[in-house]
Amino acid sequence: MILRRKILWTVIAAIVCTLAFLPGVVRAQWALPGTLPPDEFGNILINRSSELSGVKPVAFSHYTHRQKFTCRVCHFELEFDMQVNATTITEAGNKQGRHCGSAQCHDGKAAFGHAEPHCAKCHNGDIGYGKDAYGKMKKFPRTKYGNEIDWSRAIEKGVITPVNYLTLKPPTDVAVIKPILLEAEWNMIPAAIFSHKKHAAWLDCNNCHPDIFNIKKKTTKHFAMARILKREFCGICHLTVAFPMNDCKRCHPDHPKVQE
Ligand code: HEC
Ligand code: HEC
Ligand code: HEC
Ligand code: HEC
Ligand code: HEC
Repeated sequence: MILRRKILWTVIAAIVCTLAFLPGVVRAQWALPGTLPPDEFGNILINRSSELSGVKPVAFSHYTHRQKFTCRVCHFELEFDMQVNATTITEAGNKQGRHCGSAQCHDGKAAFGHAEPHCAKCHNGDIGYGKDAYGKMKKFPRTKYGNEIDWSRAIEKGVITPVNYLTLKPPTDVAVIKPILLEAEWNMIPAAIFSHKKHAAWLDCNNCHPDIFNIKKKTTKHFAMARILKREFCGICHLTVAFPMNDCKRCHPDHPKVQE
């Protein structure tokens, strides 16, 4: 019995060591995407129709917007796609109160609207637009990757209290789902951990189910790092907006436990 336990701990230690040096190996094998400066991470230029219509591309910064609104508001209620240039956004629509121009957004009351002299606040073609706002976020809890801001802690500690809905209130009677351990099929890799509670602070069930993940544990097929790095599964968010894939231990903690 004692011997077995000893073997178990040796195995665990081996796993931990593997994960500690893996990033280097993995970088060669999986080609992690390059890192962006923290004040550009999550910034995008929307240019589906802009330049074709003679105006500059629209700069959009996630770190400025997510302080005030959760992902759910834009990516569920307002139906923005989680892929740049995939949504048909038009200026006529904006002016009629859709997309950017929705009530409580850029409607000319809650925030600047769709009239001169404001056009260039959006149509400026500058991927770094928003840096002044980033400079004001010094007191936010920090991490090492992405925006270098720990957004989970920021919301938990009440540093920010983003609005979670405009008109479509999320249900409050959803059963609490225990954190799920996603075990890799090969190697002695510590499982990745997925917490519904932490994601529900930002997202709607519809953001993930049924399109990205099956709603039954252990049924999502071909769920592996190579696919995640190609913008599938966790990679839909954790490459461009949520903390990036370089942060191995945040998903594969050394001693994954189903807690809380
Ligand atoms: C104020 C609205 C707003 C909020 C809040 C918001 N987004 Fe976005 N997001 C957008 C828009 C607009 C686009 C571009 C859509 C398009 O061009 O079709 C976008 C694009 C994206 C993309 C694609 C990025 C790329 O490089 O292709 C991802 C991923 C994404 N959002 C995830 C999130 C996550 C995760 C959150 C919450 C932490 C979030 N968004 C919060 C408006 C928002
Ligand atoms: C709050 C941000 C915002 C403001 C302010 C804004 N726009 Fe836009 N506009 C957009 C977005 C987003 C698109 C979609 C861009 C794309 O897909 O390339 C767009 C699209 C356009 C297009 C492309 C063709 C069309 O009709 O949809 C034109 C032209 C345009 N805007 C002109 C203007 C002008 C002129 C102003 C000022 C009077 C203005 N916009 C203000 C966000 C904004
Ligand atoms: C956003 C969360 C997340 C991050 C960050 C992350 N992983 Fe993973 N990883 C996963 C998930 C989910 C799986 C698949 C688990 C399964 O098979 O069910 C996985 C699987 C793996 C596997 C098993 C083999 C495979 O390809 O599926 C290895 C090895 C691995 N990760 C290493 C790493 C390393 C090294 C890093 C940092 C460079 C990292 N992971 C970062 C979520 C993540
Ligand atoms: C950020 C993505 C994401 C969001 C948002 C999300 N889920 Fe999930 N859900 C997952 C993943 C990943 C799994 C595991 C899938 C697998 O193992 O194949 C899962 C599994 C489940 C399961 C099965 C759990 C089990 O133990 O068998 C249920 C039930 C579920 N989700 C319900 C919900 C509900 C209800 C909501 C909204 C409150 C929600 N999910 C929001 C990603 C998400
Ligand atoms: C639809 C977008 C989306 C998907 C898909 C998604 N996440 Fe997340 N995740 C987020 C956001 C937003 C946060 C908040 C932190 C941030 O933005 O950096 C987060 C936070 C986390 C955290 C940190 C929790 C904490 O307390 O620090 C972990 C771990 C995590 N995600 C793992 C995963 C894994 C594993 C998967 C795939 C099974 C996954 N996520 C899929 C958006 C997503």
